[in-house]
Order: sequence, then structure tokens, then C-alpha cells
Amino acid sequence: MSANTLTITDNRTGKQYEVPIENDTIKAMDLRQIKTSDDDFGLMTYDPAFMNTASCKSRITFIDGDKGILEYRGYPIDQLAEKSTYLEVAYLLLHGELPEEAQLKEWTRNITYHTFINENIKTVMDGFHYNAHPMGMFEATLGALSTFYPDAKQIFDVECRRKQIYRLVAKVPTIAAFAYRHRIGMQYAYPDNDLGYEGNFLNMMFKTTELKYKPNPVLERALSVLFILHADHEQNCSTNAMRSIGSAQTDPFSSLAGAAAALYGPLHGGANEMVLRMLKEIGSKDKVPDYIKRVKAGEFRLMGFGHRVYKNYDPRARIIKQVADEVFEVTGKDPMLEIALELERIALEDEYFVKRRLYPNVDFYSGIIYQAMRFPVDMFPVLFAIPRTSGWLAQWVEMLEDPDQKIARPRQIYLGHKTRDYVPITGRKLPATASANA
Ligand code: CMC
Repeated sequence: MSANTLTITDNRTGKQYEVPIENDTIKAMDLRQIKTSDDDFGLMTYDPAFMNTASCKSRITFIDGDKGILEYRGYPIDQLAEKSTYLEVAYLLLHGELPEEAQLKEWTRNITYHTFINENIKTVMDGFHYNAHPMGMFEATLGALSTFYPDAKQIFDVECRRKQIYRLVAKVPTIAAFAYRHRIGMQYAYPDNDLGYEGNFLNMMFKTTELKYKPNPVLERALSVLFILHADHEQNCSTNAMRSIGSAQTDPFSSLAGAAAALYGPLHGGANEMVLRMLKEIGSKDKVPDYIKRVKAGEFRLMGFGHRVYKNYDPRARIIKQVADEVFEVTGKDPMLEIALELERIALEDEYFVKRRLYPNVDFYSGIIYQAMRFPVDMFPVLFAIPRTSGWLAQWVEMLEDPDQKIARPRQIYLGHKTRDYVPITGRKLPATASANA
């Protein structure tokens, strides 16, 4: 018997099976042979939230949640945050290696020259209500972009795919900034190709009457670091959505719109917005103990705390805390910081949080920095989506090139009615327990 196998005894039949172990996993399909009779479908696994199921093999991002390690293509996140730029990291995620000088120049040029969006997209955006949430506008506009680029459907043409990647990485800041300007009723500020990726985004967000917008270099650099930290995070909810939608061979604009929709949720990329709303609701440092009491009583969750994978301090949160100091030097301290620090201090000592290994995650401090930089709270999920675009695209390409992948299609355990005959409306009687939504 090989050592790299698992022997399973089915106590229903007494039969034994030996299934191979590869990369510390067994293939779920190897369980299908375990049957009680010839017409039995075979054994499946039940894992509703993918708690213990690997859906792909990946070479992009590595996380060790117990040790608090995060690496992109093998490079530790703290080194990238300190030494790299967001565009270089996006290249790394998408190409597998850090670019040489000429490659970075070419990549930057291509991104810079795809930042403009079709004028008709502005008309699409103008159709949104004056107070539409920017993330809703962002998602919808991404979906709308697919109609402007029908060539994007050629997902197996490598050259064509590359072009869509330039377009998407380049245009997401433009769409994000236009969504913001629409919401506040200000005319759109066009991209400025003389500026870098982050500086141009700040220009499109905040330019008013000046002829040339000059981004503050400290804020530009802080944004680059925040973008690096948010660029990828292996198989999270929105990346899983990107892969799942993409597995149907959907074009990348539509797939990305779906991924952004997943990110919008308050348990995922919407958490940074919820953190700020929570800090506002708490209002002052002295109210923190009472708030923690209510969290422990199960009234609500402490937003920006806890993670499915990290059972240690989220390494991104640690780096963000350092960035905060640099930003506050320029902008002045945000009063919310004091409340956040007190929340963290009390939570990290409290048995409820210690026992469940709940630590601050990336969203806990990012919102405070964004607020200090003058981004409104409802832009926070959009600020997450801009850099995550490169991660989503890297994961999408990896999925398309993986011969193991097919259209994503989970199984279910059917617990509903067995076959029954149609009853005409006059003869129907609902059982007392049946609900209208069933
Ligand atoms: N506040 C209070 N209790 C919590 C929290 C929290 N933030 N997170 C988890 N718990 C408790 C939960 O009630 C449960 O307790 P019990 O065992 O008594 O039922 C236990 O911890 C395990 O929680 P879980 O829901 O099984 O954990 P999960 O892995 O399914 O959820 C999570 C992970 C991130 C959705 C969750 O921790 C959460 O809701 N956090 C708040 C939202 C948030 O900050 N999300 C951003 C995540 S990081 C960025 C990103 O991925 O987008």
C-alpha cells in the first residue's frame, strides 16, 4: 500500500477503498466510487461555504492564516508594500514575475493609454439617480463596458485577452472616479496621462478649477501601498465569483462586474464602509466597552474583525497601521482613530475575541485612512475593487489556462418533495407550516 493514500472503510457495506493523496488533498470525485449498490449515485462531500474544499490549484497568492503570512508569487507582502508600486505588483500577479525595466515601462504605457472611457459610458452613468451608491454604479458600468468591447468574448485568444486586461486595469479608476463625481453632482475630470496610476486617480476624484492637478506624493504613495495590500487574496468570495462566472466562458467585463458585486457585500469588501459607520455610531472612546458588550451578546458583529483564513493578526492590517501614521502627518489625525485603537485594545484582551481568534483585518484601519484622504465612506468598497481588479484578472487567466477546470457546477443534497402530481388551483390546500416564500 502506498504511503500517500487514504484508506476508507464504508461501514454501511464493510468495503474498503484506497484513494490517492496529492498536495494534502483527496479528489472529491474519488469518493464517487463509494456506493451501497450499483444504482447508488456514490458518496459526495457537503461543504456549503467551502470551509475545507480547494476549488483550484493556484500559483498566485499564498496565505498561512495561522502564522499571518501573505505572499504574492512568493514575495512577502511587507516587502512589496515597502519597495514596490501597485502597477509593478499588478504586473507580478498577472505575469508571474516582477517586470524588468523595459517591461515595466511598456506595461505602464499600456495602462496609461487605456484610461479613457467611451463618451457614451458617461451617458450610462448620467442615468443613475443623483444619490446612487458608487459601488452600484461601478458594478453596473463594468457590465455595460462589455457591450462596448464585443471582442472581449474571444477569451482564448491570448493577444485579445491581454488587451482586455490593459483596458480593465486602466479603466477601473476612471469608472470609480466618475461614479463619485456623478454622486456629488460634479463634472467628470478626465484622466491626466502625465500622472502615475494613483496620482491620476486622485486627479479624477478631486480636481476642481486648477489647470493641472498636483497630487500630494505622500498620499499618492499611501494609495499605492493600500492598492498593493488589496490586489489579491487567493480564493475569497469575489475571486471565487470571478472564477465561477468566468468558467462559463463569459467575457471578462461581465465576470468582473459579478466579482465586484460579491465584493460589495458587508462581510467582504463592504466591511470597510461598515467599520466607519460603526465607529461613527460608537461616537467616543468611553462608549467602546458598552459596544463590545453588545457584540458579545450577539446583537451585531464587530466590523473589520475576524477572517475565514487568518486566525492571527492580518498582516495587511499591520502594514496599514504604519501607512496611517504617514497619511495623518499630512492630513491631521482622524478622530475615529482613537475609537478604533480602543476597540482593538479591548477586543484583543477579551476572552470572546481571544477564544475565537478574532483579530483586526485589512478593513479595520483602511477606512480611517481613506476618510482622512477625503474619500467619502461609500467610496470605500470601490477603493477595494480598483486594485483587486488585477487579482481577479490574474485568477481568471489562471483558471482559463488550467486543464483541470470546467464550468463550475456544485452538487446539492436534495431534501425536497419526492415526485408528486400537479393539483389544480381549486383543489389546493397549503399545509399549515408552508410559507409564502418557500
Ligand atoms: N464580531 C463578533 N463575532 C465574530 C466576528 C466579528 N467580526 N467574526 C466572527 N465572529 C464569531 C462568530 O459569531 C462565531 O462565533 P460562534 O462560534 O460563537 O458562533 C465565530 O466567531 C466564528 O465566526 P464565523 O462566522 O463562523 O467565521 P467565518 O469564517 O464564517 O467568517 C467573516 C469570517 C470575515 C465573514 C467574519 O469574521 C465577519 O463577519 N467579520 C466581520 C466582517 C468583516 O470585517 N469582513 C471583512 C473580512 S476581510 C476583507 C475581505 O475579505 O473582504
